[in-house]
Amino acid sequence: MLTKICEKLGCDVPIFAFSHCRDVVVEVSKAGGFGVLGAATFGPEQLEAELRWIDDHVEGRPYGVDVIIPTKYDTEAEAETGKTDLHDLIPPEHKAFMERILTDAGVPELPDDERRRVHREIMEGRGAMTPDGARRLVRTALDHPQVKLVVSALGAPPPDIVEELRARSVMLGALCGKPAHAVRQKKAGVELIIAQGTEAGGHTGDISTLVLVPQIIDAIDNTIPVLAAGGISRGSQVAAAIAMGAEGVWCGSIWLGTQESELNTFEKEALFKARTEDAVRRRARTGKPVRMLRSRLSEAWEEEGAPPYLLPPLQGILYNEAHARVVRAQRGDLFSFPVGQVVGTMTSETTVKQVMYQMQVEYIEALERVSALIPSD
Ligand SMILES: Cc1cc2nc3c(=O)[nH]c(=O)nc-3n(C[C@H](O)[C@H](O)[C@H](O)COP(=O)(O)O)c2cc1C
Repeated sequence: MLTKICEKLGCDVPIFAFSHCRDVVVEVSKAGGFGVLGAATFGPEQLEAELRWIDDHVEGRPYGVDVIIPTKYDTEAEAETGKTDLHDLIPPEHKAFMERILTDAGVPELPDDERRRVHREIMEGRGAMTPDGARRLVRTALDHPQVKLVVSALGAPPPDIVEELRARSVMLGALCGKPAHAVRQKKAGVELIIAQGTEAGGHTGDISTLVLVPQIIDAIDNTIPVLAAGGISRGSQVAAAIAMGAEGVWCGSIWLGTQESELNTFEKEALFKARTEDAVRRRARTGKPVRMLRSRLSEAWEEEGAPPYLLPPLQGILYNEAHARVVRAQRGDLFSFPVGQVVGTMTSETTVKQVMYQMQVEYIEALERVSALIPSD
C-alpha cells in the first residue's frame, strides 16, 4: 500500500483521515496514516492551541490542516469579520424561523453562560469561513513544521496562499467534486486532488466516487496524485480506489464513531441508529449542500414558506446555535450532523487503531481475492 504519496508526505499507509478532533488526527498519524485537522470552525488562536497539542502528542509523525475557502460567501460578512458580531447580519426573518422550529418542538434555550460560550466559539470559528479567515488559519498552520499538507475545501486557493505554501514546501491539496474543479485547482497550483464523491459526509456534489475518481484522473492527465473520498470505510474499498488509479483514500465519517471522536454518547448513538438513506444532502447547515442526517430541523428548512438559505458564513452561524440547543436537549428527532452514506455501516463504537488495522487486513484480503483470479501459467 506504500504509494508515492506516502513517500512524499512521510506516512506508512495512504489512509488519510479528515477530522475536527485532534485526538483522531494524532491517533491516525501514529498508526501510520495521515491525520488532517479540520480547522474551518476554529479561530487562529484556538487553532494554534490545537496544533501545539498535536505537536506534543504526534511523536514526530506528519499531519495536515484543512481550511474552507468558499467561492460564494457573504461579502458584507467578510468585511465585518472582526469588527462586528456576525450574528447581527442574520435577517430577523431567519432568526424567527429557526426559533419557531425549536420552540414548537419544545427545545429549551441554553443556559446563559453556555449560550455565551457557544456564541463565542461559533463567532470565532465562522469568521474563518471566508478567504481572509482561511488566510489567517493557513499562516497559523505554517508555524508548525509537522504540518506537511494544507487542504482547501470548496474553492480554489488565492495565489498568495499557494505561494506561501510552496515557499515552505508544504503540499497543497484540494477537495473536488467534479472533473472541471480538479482542472481548475491544478491550474491554481494544487498538488494533490481529493476526489470526493456524493456519498461523502459534509459539503458534497452529485457524482459518485466510483465514477468521479477515474474521471478526475483522466481530466488532469494523471499528472498529480489523487485520493479517493466518499463512502470509504473498508479495506476492500481502499483496494478498489488504488485499482482505479488513486494513490490513497481520504475518509471522514468513519472516525466519528470512534472512542477518540469529538462526539458525545448521545451524538454517537444517533449515528449508530441511522441508516444509509438517512444521510441526505441539505443546505440548512451552511447554505451549501451538505450530506447530513435527516431530521425535523433539516426538513423544516425544505418546506414551503421557509426563508431562502443564507450564504456562508451566516447560515452556519444560525444553524450551529440551534444545533447546540438540540444536542443539549438530547433531541434525536432534531439532530442533523454531517455524515456520509457509510453511516449505515457504523453500528457501535470502535477505536482509531481498530479502524486502521481492520482496513489494512481487509485490503490484503481483497488483493488476495483478486490475485486468486489471475491464471497461474
Ligand atoms: C462531520 C464532517 C465534517 C466535515 N467537514 C469538512 C470540512 O470542514 N472541510 C473539508 O474539507 N471536508 C469536510 N468534510 C468532508 C471530509 O473531508 C471528507 O471528504 C468526507 O468525509 C469523505 O467522505 P466520507 O464521509 O464518506 O468518509 C466533513 C465530513 C464530515 C463527516
